[in-house]
Amino acid sequence: MSPARLRIRPLHAIDIDPCARLIAADPLWKRYHITLARARRLLREVLATAHRGGGRMSEAGEFAVAHSGGQVVGFIWFRLDGTFHHSGYVRWIGVAPHVRGQGVGAGLMAYAERKIFARGPNVFLMVSAFNAGAQAFYKRLGYTEIGAVPNYAIWGITERLFRKTRGPLGATAARVAARRPRSTSRISVSVS
Ligand SMILES: CC(C)(COP(=O)(O)OP(=O)(O)OC[C@H]1O[C@@H](n2cnc3c(N)ncnc32)[C@H](O)[C@@H]1OP(=O)(O)O)[C@@H](O)C(=O)NCCC(=O)NCCS
Repeated sequence: MSPARLRIRPLHAIDIDPCARLIAADPLWKRYHITLARARRLLREVLATAHRGGGRMSEAGEFAVAHSGGQVVGFIWFRLDGTFHHSGYVRWIGVAPHVRGQGVGAGLMAYAERKIFARGPNVFLMVSAFNAGAQAFYKRLGYTEIGAVPNYAIWGITERLFRKTRGPLGATAARVAARRPRSTSRISVSVS
C-alpha cells in the first residue's frame, strides 16, 4: 500500500469498534481470551485516560490507528516509557488480514518508533513464542530477540522479548548533555 493512501492518527471514539473487532477476530488474541467486549473496554479506557499534548498520551499508553480508503486497516498500542521505566514498549499491533503484506504494519511501527526514539534509544516488545509470522516481521524491522519470559501473560505461553536499540541510555543522555550550551560547572549525566 502506498504511504499516500495510509493515514495514521491517534485513536478517536469512532475507531473503537472497528479496532475491537479486528482484535477479537484474530486467532492471536483469542488465545489470550480477549473478547470483543474486553477489547472495547480496553480501548475505551485508553481514550478515557488520554489527554492532548504532542499527540495523545495516557496512563494506558498511546493508541494509533491506520486508515486507508476511509476504513480502519490497523492499529498500534504502545508506551513511551513502558519498559524498565525508561524505554519504549510496543504492546499490540494488528493489521486487517486483507491488507497484510502491504506495508501497513511497517508504517505503524515507524509511527511508534518515531515517538519512542525521540525520547530514548530503545524499543522493547514481547511476542508469543508460537507467533512465527510476527517474529519474522519484527526481525525484518531490525528487532533482535534478547530473551524469553515463560508464563508472563498467560500460563503455558512463553513471550519472546525483542529489542531495537540505538545505544545504551547513558550514551544518549551524554549526547543530549553535550548538545547543551557549556557552563563553567561540570556536566552531570543522569538517566533517571
Ligand atoms: C504482524 C503484522 C502486524 C504484520 O503486518 P503487515 O502489514 O502484514 O506487515 P508489513 O506488510 O508492513 O511487513 C513488513 C515486513 O515484514 C515482513 N513480514 C510481515 N509479516 C510477515 C510474516 N508473517 N512472515 C514473514 N515476514 C513477514 C514483510 O514481508 C515485510 O518485509 P519486506 O519489507 O521485505 O517486504 C500482521 O501480520 C498482523 O496483524 N498479525 C496478527 C497480529 C499479530 O500477530 N500482531 C503482532 C503481535 S502483537
